Amino acid sequence: MKICYFTATGNCLYVAKRIGGELLSIPQLMRHGQFEISDEAVGIVCPVYAVEMPMMVREFMSKVKIRTNYFFFIYTYGMGYAEAFAHADKVARASGRQIDYINAIQMVDNYLPVFEMQDQLDKLAAKNVEGQIEAVCRDIAERKHTEIKITPKTEAEIAKYTEMLAIPILRKDTAQSYIVNDQCIRCGICAKVCPANNITVTDKVYFSDHCEVCYACLHNCPQNALHMKTEQSSVRFRNEHIKLKDIIQANQ
Ligand SMILES: Cc1cc2nc3c(=O)[nH]c(=O)nc-3n(C[C@H](O)[C@H](O)[C@H](O)COP(=O)(O)O)c2cc1C
Ligand code: SF4
Ligand code: SF4
Repeated sequence: MKICYFTATGNCLYVAKRIGGELLSIPQLMRHGQFEISDEAVGIVCPVYAVEMPMMVREFMSKVKIRTNYFFFIYTYGMGYAEAFAHADKVARASGRQIDYINAIQMVDNYLPVFEMQDQLDKLAAKNVEGQIEAVCRDIAERKHTEIKITPKTEAEIAKYTEMLAIPILRKDTAQSYIVNDQCIRCGICAKVCPANNITVTDKVYFSDHCEVCYACLHNCPQNALHMKTEQSSVRFRNEHIKLKDIIQANQ
């Protein structure tokens, strides 16, 4: 089994590790132009961003040739995923694949403009993350199939979300508007955790214009030196089972 994953704060990496198999980082596959994946089972694990998948995952899906008998797609999310299943199905079909099994695991919502991280952590136990992961692992082990129904109403919802939510959110709040405070020691970790290679650290921290709005830099800065005007608080999050070096290994 092979799992292609995208992660900023470790939720998806943790889920991918729990499902098992060979883990392949989507940012690295993109960078190395590796677009042929074959195995008896192949999966994608990625976060929900603005009720869709991250832009880079969508681009990866449009390029990759997956040869498998069983293709699964697992989202992690915090608050809600609306038509994200239908969106994934649509993206997969456009690239000539059908999703055999899809599911979503509710975890900490790392979206700083809306959620306060301490509050998210306080509410985490009630989400029963382990129970959700075990159920998904069982389904995949049994090669369970799910059906995604796309109706004209679903199509309209996808279009509405993309226009009203995803595009405005993902065009706003990009790294070029982040504030670097005087706690920055120019350690370069933000550049190493960035899946998009969008950061250069020399005399100061420079952000380029191809930000994925993943917040890996904001959440993983060891000095808590990176901020957004719209953040709910300065508390940051990384999945408790995932270390900084794991995020660096995944994304650099
Ligand atoms: C830009 C952005 C948009 C997000 N949009 C949603 C959303 O629409 N619905 C939701 O439930 N969670 C949303 N999230 C939260 C993530 O999906 C969630 O925290 C995920 O588990 C993070 O995975 P990671 O730790 O592997 O990066 C968003 C996060 C970011 C950074
Ligand atoms: S990770 Fe934080 S401290 Fe290190 S260079 Fe980036 S902003 Fe500065
Ligand atoms: S600059 Fe920050 S938010 Fe943008 S893609 Fe890189 S790590 Fe993610």
